[in-house]
Amino acid sequence: MNMHLTKSQIGLDGVPAAETVLSHVDGERGELIIAGEHVADLAGKSSFEGVTARLWNGAAGKSLSEANVRASLGAARERAFARLPDLLPATRGMSIVDGFRAAIAGLRGENGLEHEATIVGAFPVIAAALVRRARGSDPIAPDPNAGHAADTLRMLLGRKVEPREVAALDAYLVTVCDHGMNASTFTARVIASTQADLFAAITGGYCALTGPLHGGAPEPVLEMLDAIGTRERIKPWVDGALAHGERLMGFGHRVYRVRDPRADVLKIAIERLEASGADLPFAGEVEAYIREALRKKNPERPLETNVEFFTAILLDALEIPRQAFTPIFATARAAGWTAHALEQRRTGRLIRPSSSYVGAMPKG
Ligand code: ACO
Repeated sequence: MNMHLTKSQIGLDGVPAAETVLSHVDGERGELIIAGEHVADLAGKSSFEGVTARLWNGAAGKSLSEANVRASLGAARERAFARLPDLLPATRGMSIVDGFRAAIAGLRGENGLEHEATIVGAFPVIAAALVRRARGSDPIAPDPNAGHAADTLRMLLGRKVEPREVAALDAYLVTVCDHGMNASTFTARVIASTQADLFAAITGGYCALTGPLHGGAPEPVLEMLDAIGTRERIKPWVDGALAHGERLMGFGHRVYRVRDPRADVLKIAIERLEASGADLPFAGEVEAYIREALRKKNPERPLETNVEFFTAILLDALEIPRQAFTPIFATARAAGWTAHALEQRRTGRLIRPSSSYVGAMPKG
């Protein structure tokens, strides 16, 4: 019999599809726990390698240290750099976001090496090579002895990077490395649940990330700030956009009913960065006005600032081109995707939901 589903059912709102030890999002309290710690206690305090070790240990019952992961990611960056001549031709003529998809689809396992390190190490090498190519420059070779955030930034910017810049990127990578059963992680877990390999799972995860309702939002956030331009234009611009039924990027969330805790963590990282290019007071005024306008427009449905608003400001202040924001997000989230894919393969079963058929029935 035909049965129409509710909006919540169609979006699988609040439906648990896995048991995980990796991260937990409490949307009512505005809390994010990653591998047993509040995100605010990790960002700016633990390195990306340290948190990645905790995720992989939790997912696969390993006992890796921060130093182990630092060494394996350094080696993986070197291997990825050596493979760039094979990976980049498939990306010719593509944007950075699309080229990244084509290049990561070409990654493959190597004997005796762990796929998760190969993937997480390769991501910034590929992202940086695409950014450099867009500027007409050659890729910069990784330094396997450097920290992952420091080397990522150096390969991207092509210059010596300051410790405060490295700290800001490291805080960002940690903040967004995992986030419960978000759309891209769910995609990766569905693929892993079929026993497809980790490379298939993370390629699918990245594809899900690229949409503006998920990880494709920060570039449009900057476009919005550019379009608003001045303090006087905040009110007319925002009111006009909402009157036209537009969604304002960097606001709203499926799970959070209060402010996304990652927004504040990133705001602190931006303040510590003290970048001359970041106009935090202007962004703060835009944010405050949008929150108020969304509250008035939709009093029953709390729509608060999400992680992408401050992601845009942080990555821009680090001089990372906006066209590369989604691949940089993926560079961090690859830690979560690989951990979830490993956990799914170890503890899950085939994910195969059902649909409600509302089409025509055979006559007779
Ligand atoms: N601006 C204006 N209105 C909004 C916004 C927004 N940012 N977000 C939701 N709404 C409105 C919707 O239009 C809807 O109104 P309606 O009931 O009149 O149709 C209402 O609020 C409820 O929204 P839902 O569609 O139920 O929210 P959902 O949970 O499906 O969407 C999402 C969550 C996709 C994040 C949404 O808030 C959005 O589109 N935000 C803008 C894009 C964005 O910031 N994406 C990054 C998310 S964070 C991340 O993935 C890393």
